[in-house]
Amino acid sequence: MKHLISIQDISTNEIIELIKDAGEIKKNPGEYAQALNGKIIATLFFEPSTRTRLSFTSASLQLGAQVLGFNDAKSTSTAKGETIEDTIKIINGYCHLIVMRHSEIDALKRAAEVSSAPVINAGNGSEEHPTQTLLDLFTIVEKGINLEDVSLCFVGDLKYGRTVHSLSLALAHFVKTMYFVSPPSLRLPSNYKTLIEKQGVHLIEKDDLNEIAGFINVLYMTRVQLERFDDQNEYERLKLSFILNKKSAALFREDCLFMHPLPRIGEIDPEMDNDSRAIYFEQSRNGVWMRMALMAKFLA
Ligand code: CP
Repeated sequence: MKHLISIQDISTNEIIELIKDAGEIKKNPGEYAQALNGKIIATLFFEPSTRTRLSFTSASLQLGAQVLGFNDAKSTSTAKGETIEDTIKIINGYCHLIVMRHSEIDALKRAAEVSSAPVINAGNGSEEHPTQTLLDLFTIVEKGINLEDVSLCFVGDLKYGRTVHSLSLALAHFVKTMYFVSPPSLRLPSNYKTLIEKQGVHLIEKDDLNEIAGFINVLYMTRVQLERFDDQNEYERLKLSFILNKKSAALFREDCLFMHPLPRIGEIDPEMDNDSRAIYFEQSRNGVWMRMALMAKFLA
């Protein structure tokens, strides 16, 4: 693995190995404090982020690496018209590994094509978010569910939700059935459906979450992606199509995990936060351990 641009760049064995590594690191992070001594990580965020950028930063610091980068492209020479290719060639001279987020789908591939340092995709437009998938899978396994036994339903914006695209592609290697609940205009795009079905997965699409509530052991809620809509009225109409609150949660199994990549914008009521099934904050914190495991794999 020279770069991580799509979750399809990683084999199932590598995913399983990373889950094990993240678990070891979480048990005893101090043991890894020198693992990336002398290394420099560049975090290039052309799009806003809280969790991904700061957990990569925390992970780098906890591995003994140093971090440089930016979280607003307007403060860089991109604002003067510099290309992605030139930006990456320059930054290659300053670091050993690049973590990059960009609103344009092809930006990460373009960066990887010219980069001598490994490039990790921290989210490329509405396409993929592979490191979110790795931490999601780590969280599911940590909660005691074998990946082969996952019965998961994606809910919300399945068209633009990059976390959905990466996680569904990864899960297709392990499960036989996946559930998708969304408004009709926000269904999973056909290219992902084709890839998932090629793995022999039975893909079930529904409009009504109640119909599948009793079958699943992971509910994966997602935010409707304001930043991908041209029509703001359409966004307002769709943004709260599905809401998890105490009333709707009562329909789900006692052992069902409630996950969300976050941020949320109302689709999970904060009254759910103390429900023992709600693990989204824990899920987010697991990003540090998984990103430590991933960067160590590239550089240690
Ligand atoms: N889950 C996630 O990617 O969050 P951020 O956009 O805050 O990084």
